[in-house]
Amino acid sequence: MNKLFTRMVLLTGVVFLILACGRGNYSEKPPIHLNPNMDSQGKYKAQSESNFFVNGATMRTPVEGTVARGELRADDAFYHGKDATGEFVTSAPMAFTTEMVTRGEERYDIYCSACHGKDADGNGKILFYKYPIPPANFYDERIKKLSDGHMFNAITAGWLNMPSFKAQVSVEDRWAIISYIRSLQKN
Ligand code: HEC
Repeated sequence: MNKLFTRMVLLTGVVFLILACGRGNYSEKPPIHLNPNMDSQGKYKAQSESNFFVNGATMRTPVEGTVARGELRADDAFYHGKDATGEFVTSAPMAFTTEMVTRGEERYDIYCSACHGKDADGNGKILFYKYPIPPANFYDERIKKLSDGHMFNAITAGWLNMPSFKAQVSVEDRWAIISYIRSLQKN
């Protein structure tokens, strides 16, 4: 009994070894699937056509008028830097804390310093590569007078020749960066 079992184990091992030899060999035939498991399942692929849904698209859009959890951006000042009348808020909708400034400095160094300079004076590395439009100097009187809302919007939507950073910088981090720039401007 014990002998038979050992032989069976050995035989299985040999069969597996022989099967394994086929790995990496080129073949036009579909692979032999001993256990297809969930490899071939009825499913819709992204962007594919459907003859089930009336509009022929497999991908569904959110029901009109609904908002996904956590996506309700009702606070205009916080999410858009604007007040109820659509004007830019003069100052940020929160008090700036030291934690914010520290976080803002870190984010500024990553996302803004290449153009606006580590010292925020508009002398970023980008000028070395002959960037044609000078990035703003944050110590400039005009920039100092910009409202927090306008700055927030510049990061979110971009400003003239500056690209938008909304994909890279979260809403919280945008305010943190502004708190850092403001702390620099005070000096
Ligand atoms: C790719 C280079 C580049 C990067 C990175 C960049 N900026 Fe700018 N930024 C510019 C340029 C160029 C201007 C001037 C645009 C113009 O006047 O056409 C500018 C202008 C501005 C202004 C002035 C807007 C105004 O009303 O005049 C603000 C504020 C500003 N940037 C903030 C930021 C912040 C904050 C970051 C980091 C999140 C950032 N920028 C990252 C290139 C950049």
